[in-house]
Amino acid sequence: MTANHTPFRLPSFGPSTSRPRTRIFPSAATTRINGDVTTSTVSDVGLKPRNLSSVKNDNKNVEIEKVYVKTDDGIDEKSLAVERTTDEEDNARSENKEGAPIKNNNAEDETEVEREAWKLLQEALVTYCDTPVGTVAANDSSDEALNYDQVFIRDFIPSALAFLLKGETEIVKNFLLHTLQLQSWEKTVDCYSPGQGLMPASFKVKTMQVDEEKVEEVLDPDFGESAIGRVAPVDSGLWWIILLRAYGKLTGDYSLQERVDVQTGLQMILNLCLTDGFDMFPSLLVTDGSCMIDRRMGIHGHPLEIQALFYSALRSAREMVNVDDGSKNLVREINNRLSALSFHIREYYWLDMKKTNEIYRYKTEEYALDAANKFNIYPEQIPQWLMDWIPREGGYLIGNLQPAHMDFRFFMLGNLWSIVSSLGTPKQNKSILNLIEAKWDDLVGHMPLKICYPALESEEWRIITGSDPKNTPWSYHNGGSWPTLLWQFTLACIKMGKSELAEDAVALAEKRLPVDSWPEYYDTRTGRFIGKQARLYQTWTLAGFLASKMFLRNPETAAKLCWEEDLEILETCVCALSKSGRAKCSRDVAKSHILV
Ligand code: GLC
Repeated sequence: MTANHTPFRLPSFGPSTSRPRTRIFPSAATTRINGDVTTSTVSDVGLKPRNLSSVKNDNKNVEIEKVYVKTDDGIDEKSLAVERTTDEEDNARSENKEGAPIKNNNAEDETEVEREAWKLLQEALVTYCDTPVGTVAANDSSDEALNYDQVFIRDFIPSALAFLLKGETEIVKNFLLHTLQLQSWEKTVDCYSPGQGLMPASFKVKTMQVDEEKVEEVLDPDFGESAIGRVAPVDSGLWWIILLRAYGKLTGDYSLQERVDVQTGLQMILNLCLTDGFDMFPSLLVTDGSCMIDRRMGIHGHPLEIQALFYSALRSAREMVNVDDGSKNLVREINNRLSALSFHIREYYWLDMKKTNEIYRYKTEEYALDAANKFNIYPEQIPQWLMDWIPREGGYLIGNLQPAHMDFRFFMLGNLWSIVSSLGTPKQNKSILNLIEAKWDDLVGHMPLKICYPALESEEWRIITGSDPKNTPWSYHNGGSWPTLLWQFTLACIKMGKSELAEDAVALAEKRLPVDSWPEYYDTRTGRFIGKQARLYQTWTLAGFLASKMFLRNPETAAKLCWEEDLEILETCVCALSKSGRAKCSRDVAKSHILV
């Protein structure tokens, strides 16, 4: 495979927050190959394992050299091009806000299983014009690819963390910049385009036959217009922001987040999330399947997973948005939303034995500003399993809250991410881990970790999933066990000073995953069997395992990715109630017992 190297070029969009719609065009570099090439892996381009950064060593400034951008006025390559000099790059690196980058993990400390996982991770690499830009979702040749041969934004996060912890930072930078270019691609579902700022769920490197001999590579994003169920990925933009912060924290290179095009992309995602709608709640209102659980599972509305990622993305953005006249309103909005969102989740999503008993004795149909049962929850909604299951010690954040509806299921990712981001109070965060420990057999069992508990069965399964044969009870999203959740669990455990829990879970995974060929998920109540339709060699399974091992080895790296309680967020209250005198701000009433 050959490629013409052109100088590093980046589009420059000026300081305005409204960026012209962008579109990626085929690379100028042409590739001569026989037959169809869809995705190139490292072995295709002859890279040596563990040597990713050397890809660009002979030409330091070519990391996204072949991205061409078209504005509504056509392609103006010259005026768009920004050539970055080595000096500029070096200066940018030296503006390290937190001193030296982290110590890289040493290969000598790795176990045999880790070495195997690293090899598989290298094989999952996807290159675009000879540059690694991501990892495929799964490398399972025995099964139908569907879209598992694509680079998913959410799936790449543990790969990115593993690479960053290993000191292989270029691929993460490439990923962040390339996905940024895909933002706002004008794709439609029946002539309706997604909102500006939306990030795709996934992308694929495709080849285009230009003439008989010439083939060009293009990046083809999927915003949900091809996805099963046609779901728009709300979590992609949130993950992108979280990863951008992680990149700065783990490399010490903050110049990436300061770039004008990156700031613009960041602000576009935020604007999309912060747009006013009809909603009464500070939580984000989304459709079913808009996150890791990307099929119908009855999580439409205000699912915890999205709220926890939204909160983390807002906290990340608060650290990264350059404050100037153009962005000061946005910064104010971020602060207000953080404050309202944390109050809302802490106060209304929290469930423990005491709260269950309160709900059990709720009065309904209260028409009043200061109603105790604000959302008109009928006590009959409390499921029997919960009455038997809720431990005396510990608690968790429920899956969803809507008018007259509480989803009492325990969703792992949302709870873990609430700990990591301090969306929960310090006491709540501690209680969540206590609950996981107390319910170890249900939530960890033979394979960490349950995506949600319990499974929907019988009539509920039929009505809520729409009789989805992939989501049968205790399978896949419906109570399946997902080893990729290990890295988030490890972060949460390290943050709460309970690394030993993570160590136990990692040890379980280390025994089984290589023997079972690194499956995507496990089935049954305790995760005893490889999932019915699980892909093997699932990248985020092995990357999540690797990241967990590295966090445990260097807990200070985990600390860099977590957030502590921020009292400033709790102090901000923008509600006008006290001023109007119509009613008491519900926060003043609540502050004493739940906020911290
Ligand atoms: C499944 C998962 C989704 C993941 C994708 C690729 O659809 O539900 O969360 O991103 O596979 O691995």
